[in-house]
Amino acid sequence: MLEKIIAVFTEKFAEQPIVFRSPGRINILGEHTDYNEGFVLPAAIDKSIYVAISKRTDKQINLFAGDFNESFTTDTDNIKPGTIQWPNYILGVVDQLQKKGHSIGGFNLVIDGDIPIGAGLSSSAAVECAVVFALNEIFELGLSRMQMVPLAQKAEHVFAGVNCGIMDQFASMFGKKDNAIKLDCRSLEYEYVPIHLAGYKIVLFNTNVKHNLASSEYNTRRKQCEEGVSIIAQNHPGVNSLRDVSMAMLKDYVAGVDSLIFKRCKYVIQENQRLLGACDDLKKSDVRALGKKMFETHHGLQYDYEVSCRELDFLVDYVKNNEDVAGARMVGGGFGGCTINLIKEDVVDKLVEQISTAYKKEMDLTLSVYAVSIENGTVKCGG
Ligand code: GLA
Repeated sequence: MLEKIIAVFTEKFAEQPIVFRSPGRINILGEHTDYNEGFVLPAAIDKSIYVAISKRTDKQINLFAGDFNESFTTDTDNIKPGTIQWPNYILGVVDQLQKKGHSIGGFNLVIDGDIPIGAGLSSSAAVECAVVFALNEIFELGLSRMQMVPLAQKAEHVFAGVNCGIMDQFASMFGKKDNAIKLDCRSLEYEYVPIHLAGYKIVLFNTNVKHNLASSEYNTRRKQCEEGVSIIAQNHPGVNSLRDVSMAMLKDYVAGVDSLIFKRCKYVIQENQRLLGACDDLKKSDVRALGKKMFETHHGLQYDYEVSCRELDFLVDYVKNNEDVAGARMVGGGFGGCTINLIKEDVVDKLVEQISTAYKKEMDLTLSVYAVSIENGTVKCGG
């Protein structure tokens, strides 16, 4: 990928670029908790977005996306979201930097990568992180990783219209080889937790579907959680997010008022509790206990938070009673994308064959399979 992107860049712009790489992520546990000021446990993977870039002396911005074989040109005085999706993730970052008062000049940029799009592995966050990291470097903005992460997140809010939490950008930027990141999304304090899976492999099954209600439902879930908080805050003014809410409070003030809001909030509170246990499991390399929690999370996402879909449920149900699978659940925002599975190393090939055939037969869809390794976060990798 590195050689390829450099070759494309030199052919398009007749000069040598600097290249940056930012990874996609998985999440071991803690789904839909980040925007509720809860905990998450993501890790960066060996699939990345690459950005090759050089500074220009004028205001022009020339973009080329290898994936789509498509160019886009604008200039630094005209940064706004457009109808073509992919430039928005790049320009959204420029917009955020400009709003913070940074002076960004023109640049040439080629983007490419191997994170499957719409698979729940955060290809968009990886783009935002690669771009903010690249611009920070070439325009010498002096921003730290901790400062760049919320900028990248805000770019997604404003130019992609998804009010995402901070997990994806944080994981892409702060990933560490063979470690998960236990992140407190309220304080942004974080701790690396080594991943030792004693005989198990992390394998992703991509449903290869992305139902288009994903972003609108995402924003709706966020609002429903906020509604739960505001009901409780009427009685407990100190409550600012679901992080401050106990199950008892939820039962007292929400259960009798709105059963849908109750279900949503219940899932989030339980998921936060589960995550703390999952970190202990991981520290003890207790893969079976960790896996059991993953199945519980999927159950909550399917029935209480209602962000799963039949393709994801099929894949989780298929492995549920398999002795060689410690755990499985959908990963990311939902409504399609991947399941994450902890599978005994020596049976992976056989299981992949079986589940691929079954998925094709039942859903008439092709399953994609990725055995992932855990890698470092955003980095300069060439030039
Ligand atoms: C998407 C969002 C994240 C997070 C997950 C669900 O990936 O971008 O911020 O909310 O969904 O856990």
